[in-house]
Amino acid sequence: MSLITTPVVDVDLFRAVAADAALISGRIQKARLGTEISIQNKGELDLVTEVDRACEAAILARLRRSFPNHDIVAEESAPSLTGSDYVWYVDPLDGTTNFAHQYPFFCTSIGLTRNGAVIASAVYDPVKDELFTAARGRGATCNGSPIRVSKSAELARSVFLTGFPYDLKDDVAHTLRLFERFVHHARALRRDGAAALDLAYLAAGRIDGYFEERLKPWDVMAGSLLVEEGGGRVTRFDGTPVNVSADEVVASNGLIHDAMIRVLAEPAEAK
Ligand code: IPD
Ligand code: CA
Ligand code: CA
Repeated sequence: MSLITTPVVDVDLFRAVAADAALISGRIQKARLGTEISIQNKGELDLVTEVDRACEAAILARLRRSFPNHDIVAEESAPSLTGSDYVWYVDPLDGTTNFAHQYPFFCTSIGLTRNGAVIASAVYDPVKDELFTAARGRGATCNGSPIRVSKSAELARSVFLTGFPYDLKDDVAHTLRLFERFVHHARALRRDGAAALDLAYLAAGRIDGYFEERLKPWDVMAGSLLVEEGGGRVTRFDGTPVNVSADEVVASNGLIHDAMIRVLAEPAEAK
């Protein structure tokens, strides 16, 4: 018998800590929703509120308590990268504009990568009290029950979500061109304003496909694992795999993925 043991990567523990941190953050959001909050502009359209910062501080404290040697990349702080195999990607409040306007579609998004591959995640919507989690190889859940992507196999019977980047006005024609193409192909196309929750809805089979450009890893990492563990597919627009530096994402139930990629690649003048 060998005394050398292979370290077991405890994705269930990672998932549980991600979920705990997301719930802590969501409680802060719920308590502050509709109260007077200070709001600043990071760019012309890009907002940050004191609630984003308070949630981030609480999440980082929770993650560091369990995993002091892991690295963290969080939206509102300087990244802490020391070369750990494990990196947490944290969006403390995804859908800040919605939150600031009391439009009830926002969440906390927390994903853990190991050597660049996402292995555990949690996305929490405090308004609906829905906690989406995933662990690599263990499936995806909503409030503890397994979730699966939809079975829609045709674009014309599919519902899509997308988002607009904050620098939309720099090339509005391009963004609207993609939007228009899906209007022609889809049963319905929505734009709700929280990328991680869009991906969670896809994982849960509430929509069939999602695409967006100019995203950050904290928008994408957690939700992409939900979709994959829910049985779906997540790639760049050209079909290649998504990694932490991917800034564009097409995600689907798998069945309509190639058709979505074809629509995204249509020549500019085609309808
Ligand atoms: C934004 C939301 C939005 C997406 C933007 C993101 P934030 O994140 O996810 O849906 O369209 O690209 O930046 O700023 O609310 O965390
Ligand atoms: Ca975000
Ligand atoms: Ca955010």
